[in-house]
Parts: sequence; C-alpha cells; structure tokens
Amino acid sequence: MYINFNPNDIIHTDEIISDLKTYLNENETKQIFIITDKNCLKLCYPLIKSVFPENQSVFSIEIGEVYKTLEIVTKIWDFLFEKRADKNSLIINIGGGIVTDVGGFSASTFKRGISFINIPTTLLAQVDASVGGKTGINYKGLKNQIGTIAMPEKVFVSPRFLKTLNSDDILSGFGEMIKHALIYNEKHYFELINFIKNEFTEKKIINLSSLINESVNIKIHFVKNDVTENGIRKMLNFGHTFGHALESYFFSKKKPVKHGIAVIYGIICELWLSVKYVNFDKEKFTKIAGELLNIYPKIFIPEDEFNLIFGYMQYDKKNKNNTIQTVLLKDVGFPVIQRVPDKNDIFESLQVLNSLSKENIK
Ligand code: GLY
Repeated sequence: MYINFNPNDIIHTDEIISDLKTYLNENETKQIFIITDKNCLKLCYPLIKSVFPENQSVFSIEIGEVYKTLEIVTKIWDFLFEKRADKNSLIINIGGGIVTDVGGFSASTFKRGISFINIPTTLLAQVDASVGGKTGINYKGLKNQIGTIAMPEKVFVSPRFLKTLNSDDILSGFGEMIKHALIYNEKHYFELINFIKNEFTEKKIINLSSLINESVNIKIHFVKNDVTENGIRKMLNFGHTFGHALESYFFSKKKPVKHGIAVIYGIICELWLSVKYVNFDKEKFTKIAGELLNIYPKIFIPEDEFNLIFGYMQYDKKNKNNTIQTVLLKDVGFPVIQRVPDKNDIFESLQVLNSLSKENIK
C-alpha cells in the first residue's frame, strides 16, 4: 500500500479506456477486484467494462450513506478472502465518495493494506473524496468516525461519467468546489459562481473540465505537505463542522441531504461565525450567502432541534478539550482555525441560516 502523496498520480483524462489499459498492462501480474455500487454498475461500469476480462470479479454495494458501515467492509473482506486476494492484488474503486471511502478503507486494512486505485464517477468524488487518501466509514450515526489515510496508487478523473449524474449530485459536487474556492482564491470563486449561475446546464456538465482541474489543484495545495492533517490540510474542513452535523441530523430524521449540499449550509453558518469572530466583511457575507441560497434549496431547522445539531458537533474531529474548533475565514482565501466556545453563537448561526433561507425564497 501507498502512503506518499504524489499529485502526478491524479490523471485527468478524456481517454480513460486507453489510460487504464496502459496502467493495467504495466501492472499485469496483479489480480484485480472491482468495488462499485448498484447505480454505477448499471451506468458507469459499462463505459469502461471493455478494459476488464469477461469474468472480472465485481463487488457492488447498495446505494446510500446508510451502507457506509463496518458490515459492508466485512462483506468486502469476505469477498476478497473467498476470491483469494493477496498482498499483491489491486482493488479498483469505481463510484462516488461512498465507494472510494469504503473501498479504500477495505483495501487499506485487508492484510494490513493492499493497493487500490480510484475511478471517481461523481463530481464530488472527482474534486474531493477520491483525492488525498482519506478513507472511512460512519459509526454510531456520525460521519467518517473510523478510517485510515491510505493513498490510491492512481486516481483517474474522467468527464465521461458526469453525464450519469442527477442535479442533486451535481449540486453536491459544486458544494465542495465552492468550499475550495472560498478557502483559496476569490477569482476562482467568481468564475465558479458565474459558471453555475449563467453557463451551467445538466447537458453542459462535460464543459466543467477546467474548473474540476482547478478545484483538484486547490485540494492538492492543501494536502501535499500535510497528508496526515496536522496543519494546513485542516482548512479543507471549512463548512464541515456544521455540514457534517447537519448531514447527520437530517439523516437521523430520514430526510438525507447530500454531503456537498450540507457543506453549503455549513459554509453559510461558518461564514456568519467568521463575521463575529475574525472580522469577515459583513456585506461580503450577505452577498455570498445570498448567492448560495439562490443556487441551493432553502432550509429550515426547528429551533428546538438546535441542541441536537450542537450534540453532533461535539464529535467533530477538530475539537480540542471538548471545545468546538472550526475553520473560519478572515477573508476569501484566508482560512484560520478558531475556537468557538459559546454555544449561543452556534445557535445564532443556525438562526441566521433559517432567516436568510426565508428571505431568499423567490
Ligand atoms: N475532504 C477533506 C480532506 O480530504 O482533507
């Protein structure tokens, strides 16, 4: 298994079939196992199936966050044992973030770790989940509490798969791209918002390649010198303290919200805290929050549920000595880690999210 992060292992390609063939020919001694999900098996796998032998071993997981569990990992380990996978085998994860997280975790723990590559098929997985080596599963209703950092040997990012996505998947991917822009570069933020508002249609999803490339480069910037997340990589968690808590909350209410969409609500809350704690410009906050709520569905969280959301935040991996620590922005492109000791401020940001959602109903 691989632990070094080499940005050159991320291959942006319009020629995935030939690139994959070349890569597999170079690694021809390896026995291959594919992990995917039921949707991808139908829509994405056929697009690259010709690369693999007729009798290729494929393990397909059910769709949804609810399956990102230790039980699924156990089933994958069983599958690998039954098929006599060994230290020299290669796992190929084909799918969205759930597949790359679960498949990567299974590979990184099987016989103390075997090689894997990622072929991300959702926008979110292409710009974020498949890159940087985080793998994992949910535990006790909480997001990504158990996992490893293990690098895929290669990540093949191809626009070919994007036309299989529905609008929620696309909005979810844009959520992480917007986060990357906000923590790194205002110009890229404007480009991205302009593209989403004025140029984007589901048919034009393929035209996104240069923005995807830029977004992956931003991720690389934050990961390359801090793979184990002791410093700068933490900034990639902007929007995620609230985002993960809201995702877990809506999941518990059986009204799941896609990860990148929850991150957008998290971004609005954390930008509000940025105004309060680190002097983020208030007018800029109002402008950005308005732009985001014109793109994303409005949201309402009952005030008597705020405590529940605060409860989820207490399991956030960035917390220190039981105090919420989050990423805030001094300005676009200037993220900082900040303690948020006052629960009332957390509640206030949820109130702001509710009331801005109300104002922005067209
Ligand atoms: N998704 C944030 C990271 O990979 O660090």
